[in-house]
Amino acid sequence: MANLRWSLMVQILAIVVNLHLTIAIDSFSTDPFVQKQLDKILELPGLNFDIGFSQYSGYVTVNEDSGRALFYWFTEADEDPDSKPLVLWLNGGPGCSSIAYGEAEEIGPFHIKADGKTLYPNPYSWNRIANILFLDSPVGVGFSYSNNSSDILNNGDKRTAKDSLQFLLKWLERFPQYKGRDFYITGESYAGHYVPQLSQVIVKHNLATNGKGRKAINLKGYMVGNALTDDYHDHLGVFQFLWSAGLISDQTYKLLNLLCDFQPFVHSSSACDKILDIANNELGNIDPYSIFTPACPANVSQSSRPMKRMHMVGHVSEKYDPCTEKHSTKYFNLLEVQKALHVDPDHAPVKWETCRILQQQYSDIYHELIHAGLRIWMFSGDTDSVIPVTSTRYSIDALQLPTTAPWRAWYDDGQVGGWTQGYAGLTFVSVRGAGHEVPLHKPKLALALFKAFLAGTSLPALELSSDT
Ligand SMILES: *[C@@H]1O[C@H](CO)[C@@H](O)[C@H](O)[C@H]1NC(C)=O
Ligand SMILES: *[C@@H]1O[C@H](CO)[C@@H](O)[C@H](O)[C@H]1NC(C)=O
Ligand SMILES: *[C@@H]1O[C@H](CO)[C@@H](O)[C@H](O)[C@H]1NC(C)=O
Repeated sequence: MANLRWSLMVQILAIVVNLHLTIAIDSFSTDPFVQKQLDKILELPGLNFDIGFSQYSGYVTVNEDSGRALFYWFTEADEDPDSKPLVLWLNGGPGCSSIAYGEAEEIGPFHIKADGKTLYPNPYSWNRIANILFLDSPVGVGFSYSNNSSDILNNGDKRTAKDSLQFLLKWLERFPQYKGRDFYITGESYAGHYVPQLSQVIVKHNLATNGKGRKAINLKGYMVGNALTDDYHDHLGVFQFLWSAGLISDQTYKLLNLLCDFQPFVHSSSACDKILDIANNELGNIDPYSIFTPACPANVSQSSRPMKRMHMVGHVSEKYDPCTEKHSTKYFNLLEVQKALHVDPDHAPVKWETCRILQQQYSDIYHELIHAGLRIWMFSGDTDSVIPVTSTRYSIDALQLPTTAPWRAWYDDGQVGGWTQGYAGLTFVSVRGAGHEVPLHKPKLALALFKAFLAGTSLPALELSSDT
């Protein structure tokens, strides 16, 4: 009797809970297959042209105890996604959204017009040749959140890598057709830390699962652009670049080398900070992420920049329209856009920002994964002064890898696209005339680079490009 009443109560309770769940939170499901359907983007405000591919966005819980959820946006390849690799894109900062930069300004299928409302197609979108997954990482960035606010104060490279691995494993449960698919990681700037570190935890994870079974991730390689690598060589390269590009005085150049030597990029001493401020003043009002293109004029609120200009390694202004970032800020703050992207109103940031200040537990690890057999490419836009080509070259030089293909120019449409050198286990490519966000400034060259990377071929020489 008592038992019967009990089970009846449980049933009623279950019905109530179910009703409540379906009414109140109909965009969350514990069933990955159902969740995938819920994540499908059906309509995107400002998208007034046809697209031939599916896209999805939503959250993946990476830690149940704390309630950490990472937000993703996935654009399938526009043709035959089943035959194309899966590629994860990560922006830097630390603290900058991969949706704000990677998706909306760089490699994504659509960018945002100056009205902050309308989208236009990007003819050089990387989803022409791959399935692209944009991830806002770590928690606190973009639409990613944690229910434990102390998480956001303690973001560090290690936890970021672990959370991203959890993200991938759970995401693959939701999108099982991508399990075992060739997988690559790409990114820029501070992602020079995130990308190799995530690669490393994936390689370890695969070893732990004996590289087989449903849980292994078929990581084939990674590629980073204008990547923060190690502080010593990064600094050395920045100062040298600023001086040789004629942007700072001899005196400042000497003092920078003296006072900022060996210091972490994101946490520097006050003496180093002071001389960095002086260098900043000497630069004048240029866009340090792209020294030859116009800066976005005045009224951009400088205070919204997460760090001092010299230290902000994830964010940029651009070439033809130097103010794209403002357009993104407008667009992604539109409630109807957030709704279309399945952003949970209870966890949406009060104001969505392209970058936010992150307390970063700085870690200087840039592990070599060459021995794991990954394809590793480092590229560099050669007009960036924040992580310049000199820094990348010093960092590569420090690895002391034997050269396998000598330095040479590479071509696109008969013009020099940049320079390249092959090393045992690593390929260097520069992109001529590109700033920090290479695909923003040189979208066609960036797509050519991405194509060569995925194919594992060297970049076109002059003869090859003349018939195409
Ligand atoms: C965060 O907390 C809310 C309210 O308890 C809950 O609905 C949500 O699922 C939690 N998020 C995560 C990622 O656990
Ligand atoms: C939040 O995280 C911190 C640090 O991990 C932990 O000490 C604290 O207990 C957590 N708070 C809650 C409410 O879970
Ligand atoms: C700059 O922005 C402020 C606040 O948004 C505004 O009041 C001011 O008129 C703007 N100035 C210019 C020159 O556009």
